[in-house]
Amino acid sequence: MDQKVIQYLLDTYKLPLYVFEESVLRERVRCLRKKLPAECGLCFAVKANPFLGEFLNDDVDRFEICSPGEMYICESMSLPAEKYVLSGVNKDEESMRHAFERGLCAGILTVESLSQFELIRTLAGEYHTEVRIMPRLTSGNQFGMEEDEIIGIVREISSEEYLSFAGVQFFSGTQKTSLKKHRRELLMLDDFIDRILEETGVSTPELEYGPGFPAVYFEGEEFDEEAYLDEFSDLLCSMRNHIPVMLELGRGIAASCGSLMSRVADVKCNHNNNYAILDSGIHHLAYYGQFMAMKRPILELWPQRQSGNSDPEWTLCGSLCTVNDLLVKKLPVHDLKKGDVVIFHNTGAYSMTEGISLFLSRDLPSVVWVKESGETKLLRDSLPTWKMNYGRIAD
Ligand SMILES: Cc1ncc(COP(=O)(O)O)c(C=O)c1O
Repeated sequence: MDQKVIQYLLDTYKLPLYVFEESVLRERVRCLRKKLPAECGLCFAVKANPFLGEFLNDDVDRFEICSPGEMYICESMSLPAEKYVLSGVNKDEESMRHAFERGLCAGILTVESLSQFELIRTLAGEYHTEVRIMPRLTSGNQFGMEEDEIIGIVREISSEEYLSFAGVQFFSGTQKTSLKKHRRELLMLDDFIDRILEETGVSTPELEYGPGFPAVYFEGEEFDEEAYLDEFSDLLCSMRNHIPVMLELGRGIAASCGSLMSRVADVKCNHNNNYAILDSGIHHLAYYGQFMAMKRPILELWPQRQSGNSDPEWTLCGSLCTVNDLLVKKLPVHDLKKGDVVIFHNTGAYSMTEGISLFLSRDLPSVVWVKESGETKLLRDSLPTWKMNYGRIAD
């Protein structure tokens, strides 16, 4: 991040603070588009960072929406309903009715169970609304359905007035570095698409695939993304079924554009160990693969300084009442003081949504968008949570 911008943010906003940078986000999408096959679409998984939806509308083809809350966010951002993939393992009648009434089913509805199919079929008939259905194939967990069930649904769709078959959705996990796994999955999907055609006579119009592209979070991690994306693209192009592919991505799009700025609230030395207590913690930072600060996140100290191995080592802790609230261990820092700031990088995905935000009734951090011009916009002021845990309506 630009040094002047950092100083401006620190002078202007309350910490802890999530910062999302437009220039990084847009460059990231450009880079993905360049590396992936041209005919491949991009769908942003809103769960990774709901704040980014409104800024990504021109950059992505779809938004994968996994809960009523995410749907209300996208609707409130006036994102076009034609781009919605209404997804999720629990589709309740009330929010689905809302979707039908407000025209939010104009895109695609995924189906994760036979009862979801029945609900959508009933509502489509009741509201006289055409709906594009995309069954989700399970990867062997609670999500999606078995092949046979999907085949049954495809057959039934053919005789339905309001339903059409939009394709197959498949997502098997996140932070996937193994190209072997992609190869296995794409082969399996090729076979399944053949099977749908053989057994129903229906061609699969599209594959919506969540590749779980990994983000680099820790120092010393080696990951050759260029080579990975090249090989992944070759795998896609070598599929037997040349049908449109839509890639559903969360962290692969959002992680790199985000930072969390957190201030050192206190320093102490206990039993010969130096501890810095930060005003943030594990409730604000979600690094996939992190546990008890075993790995060192990519971070920056402010004011900047040269630190070396001869400097004292610090354990950076958060503000929660648990010994698990460890962020960084054995970090050599020159002259660390109360009031200094630690900037945790690559926190644009999941950190602001996955944390245990209500624990200890601490405030939710502010959220700021840094435009390409360098101007900033407050997207959310720091938000108290104590009233939520108080349980009664407090003034
Ligand atoms: C169905 C689905 N699609 C896409 C994603 C995004 O995954 P990632 O952030 O690894 O790209 C998820 C994440 O849980 C998901 O459940």
